[in-house]
Amino acid sequence: MRVGLLTGGGDCPGLNAVIRGAVRVGTDHGHEHVGLLGGWRGLLQRDTRPLDRDAVAGILTRGGTILGSSRTNPFKSEEGGRECVAAFADLGLDALIAIGGEDTLGVARRLHDELGLNVIGVPKTIDNDLSGTDYTFGFWTAVQIAVDAIDRLHTTGESHDRVIVVEVMGRHAGWIALESGLASGAHVIMIPEQPASLDDVCARITARRERGAGYAIVVISEGVVLDAGAGDGAVDEFGHTLLAKASVGETLAERIEAQIGGEARAVVLGHVQRGGTPTAFDRSLATRFGARAAQLVSEGSYGRMVALKGDTVSDIPLSEAVSVLKTVPEDVYRRVAEVAAGR
Ligand code: F6P
Repeated sequence: MRVGLLTGGGDCPGLNAVIRGAVRVGTDHGHEHVGLLGGWRGLLQRDTRPLDRDAVAGILTRGGTILGSSRTNPFKSEEGGRECVAAFADLGLDALIAIGGEDTLGVARRLHDELGLNVIGVPKTIDNDLSGTDYTFGFWTAVQIAVDAIDRLHTTGESHDRVIVVEVMGRHAGWIALESGLASGAHVIMIPEQPASLDDVCARITARRERGAGYAIVVISEGVVLDAGAGDGAVDEFGHTLLAKASVGETLAERIEAQIGGEARAVVLGHVQRGGTPTAFDRSLATRFGARAAQLVSEGSYGRMVALKGDTVSDIPLSEAVSVLKTVPEDVYRRVAEVAAGR
């Protein structure tokens, strides 16, 4: 069996651990591996590198991806699907393991369901917004990085009686804000799914001030829309609205100052949340995901995505994983927000 591997979308701590797990277990099963460089672009352009045990030695702890990544969408053009089929044949592939989020796995699903290619998916995204798996690898690393930063922002915020607005990643789903806000003791948590008004946020900060606490930590997802209808309508290759150039965290800090006075500062954590070594949990989860993907190839169980259910790594149809984005349910958010706002 000749097996291709690719990593697509935003990079994520644990990608290399998946590649290593899949190659090590696949090699034991007698598979030969080839890496496709830069996500789906690597398949379309037949841009590859060999992957064997030596090539994946020492990468378990490394952030990023040794295969590179891109947001190339083959289905953007009408011939894209057929070009993928041709490239698959040209490269002599028997199977492909696609490691990615909603967009990458959406392409994987179509290549399997509509064009009959032997594809397996592995769920990756720091956003944790893929259905069918309890967690995607990389998510808890991003949360830990955000928590480490917010711990530090508590002490400087408190020393200066400032409001610190911490903007974390999460365009459509607020999981990073929710968990990092909860774990770091943030006072206000704002997520795209449950937009709080500026008045609500200011009322909570004012209530803290009345109780004698001069500072506050507000954690906000980058995807929160403060003004409905704002933005220039620009979209990426997958049709997702691009975020406004002005950071929502900075805008919120300015508005808090204007509405209730005092000093407010914004900290945009940005790509630091995606960089560097994965946590132990993510190294382990990613390795188990890679191993399971190799197993599925051996079994010929294509069109499936590996998934974590409780403490077991299993698999589900790719179609189930990409049908609905996993967003934060209202009751989950309410319970966390209550703790954050508590006295
Ligand atoms: O991969 C998911 C993600 O990290 C989102 O949280 C974020 O909105 C987006 O990618 C950023 O994308 P880029 O690195 O292309 O700016």
